[in-house]
Amino acid sequence: MAFKNTNVIAIFVLVLAVFGTCSNAQSLKVGFYKKTCPNVEAIVKKSTDTIFTSAPTLAAPLLRMHFHDCFVRGCDGSVLLNATTNSTTQVEKDAIPNLSLRGFGSIDRIKSAVEKKCPGVVSCADILALVARDATAFLKGPTWKVRLGRRDGRVSNFSDALPNLPPPFFNITQLIASFASKGLSTKDLVVLSGSHTVGTSHCSSFSNRLYNFTGVGDSDPSLDSEYIPRLTRKCSPTDQTTLVEMDPGSFKTFDINYYTLVAKRRGLFTSDSTLLADSETRAYIRRHASSSGTSSFFKDFAASMIKMGNIEVLTGNDGEIRKRCAFVN
Ligand code: HEM
Repeated sequence: MAFKNTNVIAIFVLVLAVFGTCSNAQSLKVGFYKKTCPNVEAIVKKSTDTIFTSAPTLAAPLLRMHFHDCFVRGCDGSVLLNATTNSTTQVEKDAIPNLSLRGFGSIDRIKSAVEKKCPGVVSCADILALVARDATAFLKGPTWKVRLGRRDGRVSNFSDALPNLPPPFFNITQLIASFASKGLSTKDLVVLSGSHTVGTSHCSSFSNRLYNFTGVGDSDPSLDSEYIPRLTRKCSPTDQTTLVEMDPGSFKTFDINYYTLVAKRRGLFTSDSTLLADSETRAYIRRHASSSGTSSFFKDFAASMIKMGNIEVLTGNDGEIRKRCAFVN
């Protein structure tokens, strides 16, 4: 009986957690700024076009930035906040997983362009969601209608980042739990991991798999042994600066090749390889690895991005609309 009660309580807590994660999301809507800033999407698109045309490698990190925003305190723009000048307190941005983010200056430029037309109306959190969509489309990936109406948080804590952002060495159980804690499913995990079809990684994010994996000078047996020399040629054991294409040859195109790579045991991170260790994620990978059509992955990706963009959003009178994305008003 006691066991049954514990189960009931656990289920209740889980339902509350998931419901809490999504409840405000119902207030987000497509066209939220129709009356207050009707051209916001066009302004953001024009700015991103200019930025990506001159700096195409910024598209992938700006897609990633929305993920790093949403997983820490929800999609509230907290990743954009700077530490205040006369304080030594560190913020999310200063935490290890966020040190490799790029494109903060671009978000500031886009926000300035939006502020010029619609002062004090559009949140930085919404700008991040729009930019992630435009970045994906720029990389020839899918597009989707972005639900808007997020408000900006006033808090950014250094210590919130590490426990909420899954690291590249997580195994499948840890990844599923991390995504579930944000109201995202195992399917969302394998679908959103597909964004590793674009962009680059620092050697330091995966070199543990190449050298001394278990402390005896070995490499990770789950990594294709023929792929390892290609990676070790690029990355010395202590390399902190070199960037490696995550999907070699097509890292500038949002395609389906990530799944082919992972199926061939060439996923760069443990978090990519480990998707072969669960029956649901493995089936998704195999199905997409053997298909040349992108339409089912694109449809899934759009749906999962919309779900991710709903995580713990601030709406109504919560939070604020920041004037500058790096500072609370
Ligand atoms: C499943 C858990 C995930 C883990 C463990 C993870 C980990 C990482 C790591 C370690 C990097 C390389 C950082 C560097 O060394 O420069 C990276 C890059 C990237 N990630 Fe993820 N990621 C995950 C999920 C996601 C999601 C959900 C998205 C987007 C929806 C995403 C988008 C990207 C992109 C686009 C890049 C390339 C960034 C660039 O070119 O600078 N990742 N990820």
